[in-house]
Amino acid sequence: MLEGKLVTLRSLEQTDLDRSFTWANDAEVTHFLTSLRYPLSRADEERWLDDAPRNGLAGGVRLAIDTKSGEHIGNINLHRAHPEDSKAGLGIMIGDTSYWSKGYGTDAIITLLRFAFHEMNLHRVWLQVLEDNERAIACYRQCGFQEETRLRQEVFRTGRYWDVFTMGILRSEFEALHGAPATAGAEV
Ligand SMILES: CC(C)(COP(=O)(O)OP(=O)(O)OC[C@H]1O[C@@H](n2cnc3c(N)ncnc32)[C@H](O)[C@@H]1OP(=O)(O)O)[C@@H](O)C(=O)NCCC(=O)NCCS
Repeated sequence: MLEGKLVTLRSLEQTDLDRSFTWANDAEVTHFLTSLRYPLSRADEERWLDDAPRNGLAGGVRLAIDTKSGEHIGNINLHRAHPEDSKAGLGIMIGDTSYWSKGYGTDAIITLLRFAFHEMNLHRVWLQVLEDNERAIACYRQCGFQEETRLRQEVFRTGRYWDVFTMGILRSEFEALHGAPATAGAEV
């Protein structure tokens, strides 16, 4: 388990299926997700859970986000990992909307980035975000992501095209903001 200040990140279990299924069909949530457009069946969601890669650099990482009291509020992942380039993409969904804008997303991302940079030896983590997802953009900036490119009219949603930002963070930038690992054996 990966321990943050507000959240614990853990492996997804079959018992998480109902919640993940509900969130993946909640238009309030999926409006912001570039990857979810069509209604998902339970079977789709079961396949998604069954196909979860064995956590590792080649397959990526797919984890549940729990509050410290053990409530499952969302999922977070690293995908499209490229071991040769030491990079991966990050995706996050706080599915329980009552937890939005309370710092849980920021804490989950910082916790996963710390693991990505200090345990998986990643060099760069990137993500894509819709131009109107102001909450997410504010959250990503707080974590240390920088805007890198603007893909014009990349996604068609709600009857119009939307731009998409690519944002990225390097290990050195993460460490400047959130600290480097303590050197083993270093004198205190
Ligand atoms: C995006 C998401 C992961 C962010 O997590 P979160 O826990 O809600 O965000 P946080 O509270 O950590 O940070 C959000 C920040 O944006 C601020 N914010 C909220 N709404 C905002 C808005 N409309 N404009 C600007 N800032 C806003 C919050 O106040 C907070 O800043 P603060 O910590 O200084 O108060 C979460 O809201 C979510 O999963 N949303 C639905 C799915 C989604 O958008 N996924 C990401 C797709 S790229």
